[in-house]
Amino acid sequence: MKTILSLLLPLCLFIGCTQSQDAKSQKAEPKPKPQKVLVAFFSKTGDNYAVGNIKVGNTHKVAQEIASQTNGTLFEIKPAKPYPDAYKACKEVAEEEFKTNARPKIQGYVEDMEEYDTVYLGFPIWWGDAPMPVYTFLEKYNFNGKHIYPFATHEGSAMGHSESALKKALPKSTVHKGLAIYGHTAQKDAKFVETAVKNWLKD
Ligand SMILES: Cc1cc2nc3c(=O)[nH]c(=O)nc-3n(C[C@H](O)[C@H](O)[C@H](O)COP(=O)(O)O)c2cc1C
Repeated sequence: MKTILSLLLPLCLFIGCTQSQDAKSQKAEPKPKPQKVLVAFFSKTGDNYAVGNIKVGNTHKVAQEIASQTNGTLFEIKPAKPYPDAYKACKEVAEEEFKTNARPKIQGYVEDMEEYDTVYLGFPIWWGDAPMPVYTFLEKYNFNGKHIYPFATHEGSAMGHSESALKKALPKSTVHKGLAIYGHTAQKDAKFVETAVKNWLKD
């Protein structure tokens, strides 16, 4: 009898132990992570087309509205070497960069980029496309599997060919339809921007 008990007792203890471990592992099911939203944008202050000398860039204004409506984190893509303040001089630098497909250095860094599933990406249209520092930014991180929502301000080109260029640059991301707003409207009409962003987010 004693021998049978001495054999059964460790077995019972073992079964009890594995059952309670099973219960624990069922409880420890990982909860779905809350989705984090990044609103990354490039925008230029100073002398700008159709708006004069501005303190907050046109695209920056739209980015602020998107961040406010999505509870997103704002990140400004800043060139390491600022563009000339004057519109004409800036255009010359930008044209040269566009023609040579340059990758101007940028400053700052997005911490924990891997935690963002959704990225709103804003820029002014320069030469029908996103300014080159935006491409520097895109090449700095891994955007595979992320949802990219481009938005742009412009003075006639709307999104230009930026959407197709982004799709080419980010073949493993989903690039959604963009939001284009006239720069002077973004600068002067906050109510228009609020409604345009709301409708775009709804779509
Ligand atoms: C270098 C440069 C190139 C531009 N090229 C275009 C263009 O091709 N098409 C267009 O509609 N607007 C063009 N614009 C106008 C800007 O897209 C517009 O003013 C925009 O709202 C500026 O936004 P920001 O204040 O965020 O920089 C250009 C402006 C600059 C400075």
